[in-house]
Amino acid sequence: MKLLKDCDLTEFNTFKVAVETPLFIVIENLKEIEELDPHLLEESVVLGGGSNVLFVSSLKRPVLHITTKEIEIKEVRGSKILVEASAGVKWDDLVKTTLKHHVFGLENLSGIPGTVGGAVVQNIGAYGVEIKDYVESVMVFDKKDRSFKEFKKAKCQFSYRDSIFKRSSRFIIVKVVLALRNRFVPILTHSEVKKLLATRDRLNAKLVRETILSLRKRKLPDVKRFPNAGSFFKNPVVNKEILERLLKEFKEVPYYETEGGFKIPAGWLIEKAGLKGKRYKNAMISSQHALVIVNLNDKTGEDILELALYIKNRIKDLFGISLVPEVKIITDSSSAKDILTSLLAT
Ligand code: EPU
Repeated sequence: MKLLKDCDLTEFNTFKVAVETPLFIVIENLKEIEELDPHLLEESVVLGGGSNVLFVSSLKRPVLHITTKEIEIKEVRGSKILVEASAGVKWDDLVKTTLKHHVFGLENLSGIPGTVGGAVVQNIGAYGVEIKDYVESVMVFDKKDRSFKEFKKAKCQFSYRDSIFKRSSRFIIVKVVLALRNRFVPILTHSEVKKLLATRDRLNAKLVRETILSLRKRKLPDVKRFPNAGSFFKNPVVNKEILERLLKEFKEVPYYETEGGFKIPAGWLIEKAGLKGKRYKNAMISSQHALVIVNLNDKTGEDILELALYIKNRIKDLFGISLVPEVKIITDSSSAKDILTSLLAT
């Protein structure tokens, strides 16, 4: 275990917000979680790869970071291969490693930043696949009972970019078991992937991975040049009445049917509102993808937070639709908490 006092978090969040934590706790093996002072553990914020968080102003709480990095084939059950990965493994390293060992299923999720732990919290998804499609179980440390527990998939309450772990800070994810396959089965449900790959005769997982990586590179701003946390908002799901009202005004509105209604790309709404490329203080709506907020030189996260609220209010005024952040916002500042309350309103 490492304990770093007054630690700058710039290198631990892809927004590159330069806030501090009074104590950065690095957990290098799982026993250390049990050994940690219960009070410290209770008040800590758990941080994975920092690719889906926005810190606003310096924190008053410790930050706990797990660096365990094992990947292991746990069991082979016919064509099903159970792979166990620890929370600190980089998500894309897991995708690469499984494919290298001819274990398939994760190829559409190639190139997503962050760690395995964060991927589960967030139920990451892209190009027709979500991690929940493959989760068998999740091992957590329960802060309340101070014990390790196994959550079967049903108990994780996965939904679109959400899980029990995103809503409650009681459980710290330490490992996940994914049920993958020994056979490659292409998933071409996403229209863009289908367009690029459906006509290829010798389709294989490597080609799918390369296609997804190049799609992501083309569509999303380069995080090294334009610090960001991917999609800032979730795509809203609206009912038939709202969709029909929108279609009356904009014949071209893209949408697709999903559980509970019709999903509309938030990026389309933001671009339609004329906000793509808009700059606000030291933050900006990407001119490459309207759903991504880019940090120009915002050291405290406040400009990004204010810009997000501005976007939400404009979209509500123009379309009557409430955008909800996908990014997890972490702050101990009371003024930021007020903005956050408005931002989270549905
Ligand atoms: N669009 C615009 N203008 C823009 C951007 C998008 O009009 O500037 C419209 C276009 O009609 C486009 C549609 O939005 O066809 C969808 O855009 P895109 O294919 O980029 O997907 P997305 O809905 O913005 C979602 C996920 C991404 C994931 C992609 C691919 C959410 C919030 N985001 O984005 O996930 O990679 O689909 O499956 O569901 C992330 O979670 O951080 C993330 C990047």
